[in-house]
Amino acid sequence: MGRAGFCLKDFRRQIVGIDMKVPGKDRRRLKYINFDNAASTPALEPVVKRLQHHLKWYSGVHRGTGYKSLVSTHEYNRSREVIADFVQADLDHDAVIFLKNTTEAINKLSYRIGFKPGDQVLVSGMEHHSNDLPWRSRVRVNYAGLDEKGRLDLSDLEEKLKRGYPRTRLVGICGASNVTGHINDIHHIAALAHEYRAQVLVDGAQLVPHHPIDMKPIFHPGHIDFLAFSGHKIYAPYGCGVLIGPRDTFEQGIPEYAGGGTIRAVHSDAVYWADPPEKEEAGSPNVLGVVGLADTLSYLKKVGVGQMSEYEASLTEYTLNRMSEVRGLSVYGDGPRVAVISFNLAGVPHSLVGAILCYEAGIGLRTGCFCAQPYVRYLMGEREQFFECLKSGGNCKEPMPGMVRISLAAYNTRAEIDHLVEWLKRISGNRQEFIRRYRYDDLNDEYLPRDYDVAMLSSRLGKSLY
Ligand code: ALA
Repeated sequence: MGRAGFCLKDFRRQIVGIDMKVPGKDRRRLKYINFDNAASTPALEPVVKRLQHHLKWYSGVHRGTGYKSLVSTHEYNRSREVIADFVQADLDHDAVIFLKNTTEAINKLSYRIGFKPGDQVLVSGMEHHSNDLPWRSRVRVNYAGLDEKGRLDLSDLEEKLKRGYPRTRLVGICGASNVTGHINDIHHIAALAHEYRAQVLVDGAQLVPHHPIDMKPIFHPGHIDFLAFSGHKIYAPYGCGVLIGPRDTFEQGIPEYAGGGTIRAVHSDAVYWADPPEKEEAGSPNVLGVVGLADTLSYLKKVGVGQMSEYEASLTEYTLNRMSEVRGLSVYGDGPRVAVISFNLAGVPHSLVGAILCYEAGIGLRTGCFCAQPYVRYLMGEREQFFECLKSGGNCKEPMPGMVRISLAAYNTRAEIDHLVEWLKRISGNRQEFIRRYRYDDLNDEYLPRDYDVAMLSSRLGKSLY
């Protein structure tokens, strides 16, 4: 591993639950293939083992004086350094704040920037709802346009920066889209934003797990001011996310959550806040999640993030080539992308494709709009009928428009892709037969095999421990 090059076999061996079988249609046991890494990635065996060990030392951080508390506090604080190092943040300038996930990180930032009347934020038309909705309730939001393939239109972004000057305080952009996988040139966008005196936030949820990332020094024009990402998308279990950004942003104002751990002193009529990052982490923190994230990043660094990324790029190219063999299949987007591919199969609803792959091929993926409805509607050519029906308060019985998405990671293999393509060909060649085998459950907006015993789902995890 590491210097010797990325070894797929070694890495795959470390994936928790890699060889599991799941119950499929007709009571068949299917080898599970996970193509839903953009939602959550599985954990790594060595990290889970270390966390098991850490549990023996697990104790309250920052406020205890016992030896276990000291160990836990040390590990918790050290994690900030590991994480800063992974993305080349400068701890003299930046605070590494621990939260639940990217969504919480962006929500926090929306409260902490300290907007004044007339301020604006510029995001793009390709954002996840989490880099759109938090801003809407706080400030005026503008949207940079997209080209016909759903890629960011940089000249429109610049034009909007020009027009919004000096009111645009922040450009919020995804490092990579969770729908098309498109990679944005974050440093170029940061340089543009800085020219117009705006800061830049990179929603790194889909980029950081698949690409080496460098926030760059603060005097660099392409410096990333704020970076948010989630542990659960980068092999780290137990729910820890991160927001990294200039300390001075968080030194001002009052945190949106206040309470234990956030203060230096409290009088009945005055509060003296702690310095960031503590000021931003109210209540007892998720120590295991934090330590798990730091351990995971250390492990990935040893494996070689650049080499993992190269492997994913070649797997993505292979996948796109193989998918082009499937009749009636259209892929959304074009150009440099992380290993996220959304598509539709002509004449078969997206959620039916997902159901067939789940119940008959053992493949886990996601279908729908992926929490990015405006972008999905844009890519699909705005199928307004469904949304008009919702807007008018109607109960739309048709399946929600959407796509099928596969999202790969560095442990997926070409053989898994071949299995997927074989099934897509089968579906495409036998549409009517598959459509007959499934029924649409409009309550849950999903397809189920006509003969599937749903009760089996509740016995999936095996016997109760208690
Ligand atoms: N944002 C995650 C996804 O795209 C959950 O699947």
